[in-house]
Amino acid sequence: MNAPGNVLIFDTTLRDGEQSPGASLSVTEKVKLARQLARLRVDVIEAGFPSASPDELRAVQQVSQAVSEGNYVPVVCALARAEHTDIDQAWEGVKLALHPRIHVFIATSPVHMRDKLHMDSDAVLARVGEMVAYAKGYCDEVEFSPEDATRSDPEFLHEVITAAVTAGASVINIPDTVGYTTPDEFANLIRGIVKNVPGIERTIISVHCHDDLGMATSNTLAGLQAGARQAEVTINGIGERAGNAALEEVVMALRTRADSYNLQTGIDASQIVRTSRLVSNLTGITVQVNKAIVGANAFAHEAGIHQDGLLKNPNTYEIMRPEDVGLSQSRLVLGKHSGRHALRERLAQMGYDLDADKIELTFTRFKELGDKKREVTDADLEALIADLFYQPREVYRLVDLQVVAGRSGMPTATVKLRGPNGEEQVKAAVGAGPVDATYRAIDSIVVTTAELLEYDVHAITSGIDAQGEVSVRTTDGTRAFRGYGADTDIIVASAKAYLNALNRLLTRKDGRKNEEEVG
Ligand code: KIV
Ligand code: ZN
Repeated sequence: MNAPGNVLIFDTTLRDGEQSPGASLSVTEKVKLARQLARLRVDVIEAGFPSASPDELRAVQQVSQAVSEGNYVPVVCALARAEHTDIDQAWEGVKLALHPRIHVFIATSPVHMRDKLHMDSDAVLARVGEMVAYAKGYCDEVEFSPEDATRSDPEFLHEVITAAVTAGASVINIPDTVGYTTPDEFANLIRGIVKNVPGIERTIISVHCHDDLGMATSNTLAGLQAGARQAEVTINGIGERAGNAALEEVVMALRTRADSYNLQTGIDASQIVRTSRLVSNLTGITVQVNKAIVGANAFAHEAGIHQDGLLKNPNTYEIMRPEDVGLSQSRLVLGKHSGRHALRERLAQMGYDLDADKIELTFTRFKELGDKKREVTDADLEALIADLFYQPREVYRLVDLQVVAGRSGMPTATVKLRGPNGEEQVKAAVGAGPVDATYRAIDSIVVTTAELLEYDVHAITSGIDAQGEVSVRTTDGTRAFRGYGADTDIIVASAKAYLNALNRLLTRKDGRKNEEEVG
């Protein structure tokens, strides 16, 4: 049972987070991220929605196995609609986890029941008891969610939750599916459940808030103050539409304002920045620079008065220390004395356990980077590792790129790519600018239906020699694919990001079925 002031952190980056447009992750990427979530010490990993596709099931199975060994083992959870086949699939996904959980949901708001489910409230009520009991036949830990709870009739909600508790649910999650509630209203809803549902004290109440009105974190904290003891969150707040409550915001608010909340989590906050960067590299969804806790400017002080105050006493303008969230100031200064050993040590301190071949590969790229950049920071290393090891299966790889650009003449790019069978092709193109020319040259080799929707570039670190980080979003007309690339040359970074997206498109997950939208 959970200790009274402890808040369980239920991370749903791999499930609700992956529902962000264009964020689809491969099975290998999901396993990598799950391992990092275990390092971050989340209590529960919601690994996916196994009935969505065979790949999704495989990902949940592999995550279940991957995080069930080692000295810290989180619960692994799989989502299921309140249907036998979904629950069967969810169990198939998590049965190899040391601590498995099945999460059953059904909508309870009038609009969802009438227009989506075509069920009346009696039928929904009966289904809840039946399906929670069915899941309980597989697994001791069963979580139940009344979808769109915040737009449901509170009395009906109490009846539904009572049915779930009676059937054996151990966690009752209250989702604000469409990000509609307000902190006061949500706190009242939770208090009402505590007061009106017999047996609720034997369960853990959980909150799951979306950010459509920018209140996901506030609503989550209000729910915890009202008695909930599990928070469902995602890294960087990614998720459907405007996203979910951000793990880093909820955790650091509880920690920084412990005087007000008097609640704790088991999260290792020093892993926050690293996890944030990994999620952004894998999904291609960059973090806005002014994002709380993990944005590039979150600990940057620009105003002269602020800088002066900080030098006198960091407490003047800093309510958290950057190192608390793993934002290390450490710099590896490259020179003739920087060798493999120093690099291996730094990577190990950053939590990367790479085998000898990967160290060798990293070292070669580290030296190349060191030739171009005076100082190689942790952020540079993170980008380098992402570029080397967190890519989708490479169908096309950038071998070389030359660009001629300037104010007069025609911007021209020549690219050399290695294709799926190892063959190399060289093509040149003229464009409106160097990036456009590069993308046209790539398009003349990699023939797809992709259309570029978004292009975004920013510097990873400060300084004129900083690496540029590019993220793009493309579409094949039906789905969106994101891509990421980093390099000291932003045109090279742009080419890598575009190829990254095209490789995702070419190796996309096929056969998604049961694509019912869940919040
Ligand atoms: O937002 C939501 O309602 C959900 C449920 C499936 C918990 O994600
Ligand atoms: Zn959701």
